[in-house]
Amino acid sequence: MMMSETITIPVTQNPNTNYQNIDIYNCPFGKIHTDHMLICDYKDGAWQMPKIVPFKNFEMSPFSRVFHYGQAIFEGMKAYKDEQDAVWLFRPHDNFTRFNSSAKRMAIPELPEEYFMEGVRKLVATEKNWIPKGFGNSLYIRPFIIATEQGILAAPSSDYRFAVIVAPANAYYYNDVNVVVAERYSRAANGGVGAAKVAGNYGAQFYPTQLAIKEGYQQIIWTDDIEHKYLEESGTMNVFFRINDTLITAPTSDRILDGVTRKSVLKIAENLERMNVEVRPITIDELKAAHEDGSLKEIFGTGTAAVITPIASFSHENKAYKLNKQADSFAVKLKQDLLNIQYNITKDTFGWRKKVL
Ligand SMILES: Cc1ncc(COP(=O)(O)O)c(C=O)c1O
Repeated sequence: MMMSETITIPVTQNPNTNYQNIDIYNCPFGKIHTDHMLICDYKDGAWQMPKIVPFKNFEMSPFSRVFHYGQAIFEGMKAYKDEQDAVWLFRPHDNFTRFNSSAKRMAIPELPEEYFMEGVRKLVATEKNWIPKGFGNSLYIRPFIIATEQGILAAPSSDYRFAVIVAPANAYYYNDVNVVVAERYSRAANGGVGAAKVAGNYGAQFYPTQLAIKEGYQQIIWTDDIEHKYLEESGTMNVFFRINDTLITAPTSDRILDGVTRKSVLKIAENLERMNVEVRPITIDELKAAHEDGSLKEIFGTGTAAVITPIASFSHENKAYKLNKQADSFAVKLKQDLLNIQYNITKDTFGWRKKVL
């Protein structure tokens, strides 16, 4: 489906475009900015008209509330270019609704729908030359809001900036990912902000993840904060377990992000005859028992950045449990089906693809 222009967002062209000088097929993730960005400020109790302007640094007071209280939210999305050079977004409205629920949780004023949807669409259209083609290549889209009011008082800001920046992203392939199941640290707690894309959620993961990396793991499987028993997310991804032919993932909650990839994988799997799907809590004890009796076939993470990341082993209470490679891997099949929809290779029976231009 073609996305329509709902409001007219003005574009100030960058006279010094840089895309001719950049090899968009060889970009370190999130390091190369494009020529333009979208900005939209909240002041005097209202979101002002968004505009697309040449990319440049923000000028902010060191008193800005975001620096002191972390009142900041973000989203992560991608634009895909197909073989005919058409450009597509994948379920962008889901990112918009999640963005506003993150805003609400952080006492940030919610954004009008067309500012987000048309803002993202028009910025992607403006930067179409920056989108690398081919499976796994994309334009990564980062919408975010920061609290800009000057003031050291611990209270919600009265001023904000909504911005969207984009960056060419290339396919990246992981070696096998080995994970450790969290026994001490937690990503989220009931009543907290785990279900929102709040900047501080991610900063708080860095230290436990550093410890895990030092011990030779690439990621942590996060568990519930009370008993460290329920398996909830993997790094910054939702997590799926395949026991025999059943895919199991935890229900969303205060502690689990409602991932767009997660719900897409669930939908695709439900429609495939060979896969059963169960959305229910799953414990480390059940996982270890399934490993022991041979019914645990696969574990994988899902998220916009890496789509589906297979997990080769998990470790708990200092014991490693290795998984054998499956000839009929669900992770491989689901990834292929999802990419085929995202890159306009197969029919989009779910109505997820939105055409930018
Ligand atoms: C904590 C967390 N879980 C899951 C996901 C996956 O969400 P999505 O599939 O919408 O990218 C992300 C990434 O955004 C995340 O940060």
